Amino acid sequence: MEKKPLLVTCGLPYTNGPCHLGHLRTYVPADFYVRFLRRAGEDVVFVCGSDNHGTPIVVMAEEQGVTPADLSRKYHAHFDDIFRRMGVLFDHFGMTDGETNHRRTRSLVKALQDHGYVYSQVIQQSYCPVCQRSLPDRYVEGLCPHCGALARGDECDQGCGKHLEPGEIRKPKCRICGTEAELREQEHYFFRLSAFRDMLLSYLPDLGGTSNARNYAIGWVKDELHDWCITRTLEWGVRFPGKEDLVVYVWVDAPIGYISFTEEWAGKTGGDWQRFWCRDGDIIHFIGSDIIYHHCIFWPALLSGAGYHPPSAVVASGMVKIDDQKFSKSRGYVVWTGEDYLDRGLDPDYLRYYLLSYTSHTKELNFSWQGFAERVNNELVSTLGNFLYRSLYFTTQFFGTVPEGPVDPEVLDHIQKTLDGVEKAVRDYEFKGAVDGMMALAAYGNTYIQNQAPWKLVKTDRAAAEAVIRNCLQLVHALTLLMEPVMPGVAERAWRMLGHADPVAAHGIREGLEPVKAGALPDPAPLFAKMESDQVKGLDDLLKKRVKEAKMREQERTGISIEEFARLDIRTAKVLSAEPVKGAKKLVKLQVDIGDGTRQVIAGIAEFYPVESLVGKDIVVVVNLKPAKIFGLESQAMLLAAGDRASLLTPLSPVPPGTKIR
Ligand code: 2FM
Ligand code: ZN
Repeated sequence: MEKKPLLVTCGLPYTNGPCHLGHLRTYVPADFYVRFLRRAGEDVVFVCGSDNHGTPIVVMAEEQGVTPADLSRKYHAHFDDIFRRMGVLFDHFGMTDGETNHRRTRSLVKALQDHGYVYSQVIQQSYCPVCQRSLPDRYVEGLCPHCGALARGDECDQGCGKHLEPGEIRKPKCRICGTEAELREQEHYFFRLSAFRDMLLSYLPDLGGTSNARNYAIGWVKDELHDWCITRTLEWGVRFPGKEDLVVYVWVDAPIGYISFTEEWAGKTGGDWQRFWCRDGDIIHFIGSDIIYHHCIFWPALLSGAGYHPPSAVVASGMVKIDDQKFSKSRGYVVWTGEDYLDRGLDPDYLRYYLLSYTSHTKELNFSWQGFAERVNNELVSTLGNFLYRSLYFTTQFFGTVPEGPVDPEVLDHIQKTLDGVEKAVRDYEFKGAVDGMMALAAYGNTYIQNQAPWKLVKTDRAAAEAVIRNCLQLVHALTLLMEPVMPGVAERAWRMLGHADPVAAHGIREGLEPVKAGALPDPAPLFAKMESDQVKGLDDLLKKRVKEAKMREQERTGISIEEFARLDIRTAKVLSAEPVKGAKKLVKLQVDIGDGTRQVIAGIAEFYPVESLVGKDIVVVVNLKPAKIFGLESQAMLLAAGDRASLLTPLSPVPPGTKIR
């Protein structure tokens, strides 16, 4: 029987900013999966593209004073470049603003209209009277109608995470100028998502991929399905068929990009895009877990309503934290793939390894430079690199060529079991399990070479040393083939050291059980380099600086919070005694009653008040500043005074000492 081809896609990055670690959490595992399956003999097509429409792009373009088209082209090229440098190699990387996608989106929407799944309705839409325009999605900010959190127009991004329909947000404000929005009536078009409940209830239980995606989706369908407004009042986007002054909602034309990019791939290669989208080919979407709803509910319904074939699996990756904090570009908790990593000469393969092996694909990943360096140093350098290098080094030192002879059956058995375990883990989307399986084989090799000590054996029994090295090389061979999907660059270098001239990716994973290529080996070089503590500290300092700068920017923008103000302990105080400070003409030393005790205050007010006149005065002090040493004397509170002549603040009507100022 002919094997079914498989189409793998990755969630499309918006072209409104650079690539960061959060993106890679989806792309690296998808690339690993594709490489592995290809090397297991499967026919896989891997497509992606950039998401160019919608308010994320329009708002950012406006902020930067460029057109959405220019912004999209810039970041499209950026993502394309970063993915290549990370070894994430798509067969095609398209743009949703491309001609294919405009055409395919309009045709699919027309099919939905023809099948009766689209209706029009007049809705109340936010409008900014100052900017004089409608405020779709991220143009508007307000309160979530479900949980009350601060939210943007299309999504409760800081609270419950729910998708918000136009007009749903409470207390809407224009995001650009801050003006309270008005509500205006406008005709929009809706997709009858509610008509797909039964379809989804029978489709979802068999949906492949990770259980988080499937289970969330089943829960939502059982709950309630609302129709989705699929038009927006914007200039930038795909024109809505039949109502050309509106564009389709970005969450319609973005996933349709998956089809368009497959068409573009087919155009380049002579491949068959309809096999996937109209017949029986398998489709697997790799996405972040924040967009499960769009891919497991909205997208299959859209496809099915228009007469297309829905995805076979959705693989949803867990979120990324940075230094234990929620990932946030605006708060500085972000690691940029280019600026912070690749441009500093760090090896893309180390990051691939880290992302794949940190934890289960569906769990949260908490990044820190320290943790990253530990994984590199303890696992890649000390276990894997050490075994590979020692085996190759002893071969060239003692023998020059690969020793001939049989491989120990126990070693072959170990390789066999590893291959079976790794393949099962990959097919179960347990990428960490797969990488751990590979590392366990390296650890086995390390123990083996350490126990056999061929460097000693070679002096007493050369044949026995040859047999040990022969076994080690078999393990190196199998490990190199296994390493390719995880760390393609390192695997390629190791493959050269095993005497090959062709690419490692041209070989099947199972060739790890076949005999090692005979002949002379070149001198090996270490495959991994340790990360030094200075370097790690430098990277960490950079991140800390970014967080600090973001905090300062935020404070400039918003001022201090009411909570921060409330932390200040400001009270009235009565001056009990006052005396000049000897040797300091401007200073006085006061003892003040602050209600629950007395404090000593050193203040620079001597030139403005006769010292004795201060006694008995009610003044205002801050009592919870850190004590300061002034002229060798401790000042335990700060008095408040106005202007150049230090006019002391005092309550208008009498209050007891220690009364809190609010
Ligand atoms: O959430 C996002 O970043 C979107 N740009 C993902 C789109 S994926 C798809 F459906 F097109
Ligand atoms: Zn909410």
